[in-house]
Amino acid sequence: MTDTDTARTPHPPRVFSGIQPTNRLQLGNYLGAVKRFVEMQNAGVETIYCIVDLHAITVWQEPEELRRATRELAAGYIASGLDPARSILFNQSQSPAHAQLGWIFNCVARMGWLSRMTQFKDKAGRNREAASVGLFAYPNLMAADILACHATHVPVGEDQKQHLELTRDIAVKFNTDYGVDFFPVPEPVIEGAATRVMSLRDGTRKMSKSDPSDMSRINLTDDADTIARKIRKAKTDPEPLPSDTAGLEGRAEARNLVNICAALGDRSPAEVLAEFGGRPFSAFKPMLADLAIARLSPITAEMTRLMGDVAEIDRILGEGAEKARAIAQPILEQTYDIVGMIRSG
Ligand code: AMP
Ligand code: TRP
Repeated sequence: MTDTDTARTPHPPRVFSGIQPTNRLQLGNYLGAVKRFVEMQNAGVETIYCIVDLHAITVWQEPEELRRATRELAAGYIASGLDPARSILFNQSQSPAHAQLGWIFNCVARMGWLSRMTQFKDKAGRNREAASVGLFAYPNLMAADILACHATHVPVGEDQKQHLELTRDIAVKFNTDYGVDFFPVPEPVIEGAATRVMSLRDGTRKMSKSDPSDMSRINLTDDADTIARKIRKAKTDPEPLPSDTAGLEGRAEARNLVNICAALGDRSPAEVLAEFGGRPFSAFKPMLADLAIARLSPITAEMTRLMGDVAEIDRILGEGAEKARAIAQPILEQTYDIVGMIRSG
């Protein structure tokens, strides 16, 4: 986030982001999102982080599993360093203004805009007729999450860039249609070495919670032996590591491991290659496994501990939701006024 970003908007800087409580947190979510959520919190900006349970049900979720995954994601946030005293942490359904503003945005966004969303095309697959209406309207609810909080900055991985552009289009269209300067036009914050962590089995595919092969990803719940085994078996090529980033051209798997190493170690890919250039993967992988275990194991242990006290997690989410409602409800009411809804009393 730069000074010029904030100078452009009359709204005070406020960070918002969200993750779906589906399956388990994986390394891509951690490096592309949660680790950066923590950095922004620690930089002293106002930060709001959501568990987007209403987005999760755009595809089928078993109710018990949804509850478990929501709590586990909350535990993952906290274990990674998000502090409920400094960031607002809550699950989306406990702040109803998000869904209500989402409806208004269903009436602002155009069918054509949503039809171009690649995440919808990927998730709906070939049988679009069978996709839920919620899956199609998903980006409008995401825009509502962000704009119900008048957020100015949104840290996400590369795959969310298109949704952020849609959010900006919605903010601009609403402001223009109603002749107001009400919603900020939020900036995506897509930075660092790990904005797109790739599968360990195929360097051309994104690491994902939903990939059927568990060997393709490192889960935040994996133990040390599992992490070591997955890195040992990660796909590579027979060449030694190059000595600069230009040498990673056309070597998707090598690039991915170098990026993961850089992001985990808080340094640049160039620095990693300055140290390991010319060395074989047999020397690089054990170091990477040790680094991943050193960084992730304390988080895993803390998540397990937190999951032992579900009532405490629910209490934290409830407190966060109260603060989230205090922000979003007045913004929703002002939106209703702008749109022309009567509010009595
Ligand atoms: P999701 O799990 O789809 O709700 O994603 C939550 C956050 O993690 C979003 O900001 C994504 O952009 C980010 N994310 C998910 N997978 C990856 C990945 N493989 N690399 C980097 N960021 C990712
Ligand atoms: N669509 C995001 C994802 O799949 C999750 C999300 C929902 C989100 N609402 C958001 C991200 C608001 C940032 C801001 O990863």
